[in-house]
Amino acid sequence: MRIAATGRYLPPKVLTNADLEKMVDTTDEWILTRTGIKERRIASETESSAEMGARAAKEAIKKAGITAKDIDLILVASVTPDATFPSTACYIQHKIGAGKCAALDVQAACSGFVYGLVLGSQFIASGTYKNILVVGCERLSSIVDWKDRATCVLFGDGAGAAILQPRADGKNGLLAFDLGANGGLHEILYLMNGHTTGPEGVEPKDGPHYMRMSGQDVFKQAVTEMGRSAVKVLKTAGITVADLACVIPHQANIRIIEALRDRLEVPPEKCFINVQRYGNMSAACIPVGLDEAQEEFHLKRGDKILLVAFGGGLTWAACVFEW
Ligand code: ACO
Repeated sequence: MRIAATGRYLPPKVLTNADLEKMVDTTDEWILTRTGIKERRIASETESSAEMGARAAKEAIKKAGITAKDIDLILVASVTPDATFPSTACYIQHKIGAGKCAALDVQAACSGFVYGLVLGSQFIASGTYKNILVVGCERLSSIVDWKDRATCVLFGDGAGAAILQPRADGKNGLLAFDLGANGGLHEILYLMNGHTTGPEGVEPKDGPHYMRMSGQDVFKQAVTEMGRSAVKVLKTAGITVADLACVIPHQANIRIIEALRDRLEVPPEKCFINVQRYGNMSAACIPVGLDEAQEEFHLKRGDKILLVAFGGGLTWAACVFEW
């Protein structure tokens, strides 16, 4: 398996911390020091998750030198699907003009793209499929309570995509992965979304359509599980941080990223960070990061990259692969 190409789409509308100061009782200084976020993108009415995902996918398809008709499987990670069903993957299949290939959503919250990458790579490794589209797309602005200063400052909208293909030498570029979940912690980060039943014992509080989060609990779990998962994949792959070209962590909060960096002893110049520009885009963070990191780190084939994510569920996912 190799990632043949990537693409991204960020909606043009920018919402700065100064804009948020006019909406809720907050300050640029609080947001910047607690999260590292300076601004985020906000989708327009026509920019749904599927629409943004399709735009990112089209760019990746073009860069891979294939057509949408060549795609065998579409995997889409999103906590903000356009509908409960059909899947966002089906919408994207239609929007990009793919054939009647397999299409499904992968629900693992912010870890979803890495889950999708690992799942897709299994079909490449088994020789089943030749071109797999993996997308992470989010319209978090539609599930954020814009009156809740503790959460509304954290999130943004956007999409990223990657095309997976077999390597010419037949080797698997996915050197190691670790996927996991702890459903026992479902209460610290969730969105009931109007469903009448939910995780056992959880009742929607002030509005089922808004995301709810226990910030400090999520923070502690994120640092613990991302660190543990990253250490595990490096060990499994038999490499150290010194062998990596870059680390692309989930972009939830600069302090979480720095805690991870300290734990793994990643030098600052090897750690990709774009949380200041986009905030937390959930499942879109890693693919957008992957797309931007190619320019920033001048990635070349053979370079080793560590991806590590966590999200609601709780879920976590890490992998090391060769570019
Ligand atoms: N502006 C100003 N003050 C604020 C704001 C704000 N936007 N938000 C909260 N505060 C206040 C609180 O009310 C509190 O005031 P008090 O002391 O008078 O009670 C004070 O700031 C401190 O609040 P804390 O919650 O203790 O702040 P903390 O340092 O924990 O930072 C944060 C909060 C940024 C949310 C942090 O906990 C965090 O980043 N957690 C992780 C969040 C995360 O990663 N979520 C991922 C979601 S991923 C997914 O799956 C969608």
